Amino acid sequence: MASRLQSTLTEIGEAARALRSGRLVAFPTETVYGLGGDATSDRAVAAIFAAKGRPSFNPLIVHVSNIASAAQFAELSGKAQAVARRFWPGPLTLVLPRRRDCRISLLATAGLDSVALRVPAHQIAQTLLMMAGLPLAAPSANPSGRLSPTTADHVLAELGDKAEFVIDGGPCQVGVESTVLSLLDDRPRVLRPGAVTAEALSGLLKEPVPIETGADDAAAPRSPGRLMSHYAPSLPVRLDAATAEPGEALLGFGPSAPKEALNLSPTGDLQEAAANLFAMLRRLDEPRYHSIAVMPVPDTGLGIAINDRLRRAAAPRK
Ligand code: TXA
Ligand code: MG
Repeated sequence: MASRLQSTLTEIGEAARALRSGRLVAFPTETVYGLGGDATSDRAVAAIFAAKGRPSFNPLIVHVSNIASAAQFAELSGKAQAVARRFWPGPLTLVLPRRRDCRISLLATAGLDSVALRVPAHQIAQTLLMMAGLPLAAPSANPSGRLSPTTADHVLAELGDKAEFVIDGGPCQVGVESTVLSLLDDRPRVLRPGAVTAEALSGLLKEPVPIETGADDAAAPRSPGRLMSHYAPSLPVRLDAATAEPGEALLGFGPSAPKEALNLSPTGDLQEAAANLFAMLRRLDEPRYHSIAVMPVPDTGLGIAINDRLRRAAAPRK
């Protein structure tokens, strides 16, 4: 079983040493907890895929400390630099062309000639990256296809036997995974919506930034956040519910939700709702119910990311 570490420098140092010797460490970011390993080590990356039961054609996000470090692994165009300067560190991942001399394991990028890079803002993630001195491959620390973890307890419950350490940083502030922005050609597009909205990106780049999350978009490599069924609890999920039917759990939103519902945000605040989303779906994912009914969430701002995850949670499963 993984040991739980606190966020002291001594304990983060211990985690950094484990990473340097090829072992896996789960750590908090502002979005969700990641299962981290040395991105330059095929063995560490293979251990991440095995721990998650993740198909190896699905590339991982690689975390780095800053823009200079990102530039060691990927080509940063003018647009990429502008976006990175504005939104890093933060909940944004950039898909960029791999540099020819990129040392990141080809397994991490699923053999593609692109690489997904992220500079997280969370203090623990930043300290860990600095102390390890390595780029860290870190997908969300959950079994493939399931809900992402937003607390150390979620990680310990599901992947506790797979990591050496879980660093406990309390609940994640954002609660949904980073926005994934493709900058592979001159047509920027969002592959996974998140807290950095397409609107904000479009405002900065002064051009349209479409959201293209389709699982069947032949132009894009297949990747897990784009598979139709993903981020799923064990129970079926029913969307756009007004009330719960007998045997259903109710996940509400806003002031008009029935009192018996677990409420993502009683005041209708989308940031609060995103931060609560995965933890509340987990709380309702109980055998005494036969499904989870979810009330509508406005499809604006962070609501776009919340609705993206809810649609995938509700999609037919294999
Ligand atoms: O918030 C997050 O991004 C979290 C925390 C831990 O940082 N990490 C995360 O990683 O969600 P992961 O591996 O579960 O998500 C991988 C996503 C895929 O859904 C895909 O959209 C994108 O990253 N991705 C990675 N490499 C890609 C590539 N070369 N081309 C296109 N998409 C890629
Ligand atoms: Mg994931």
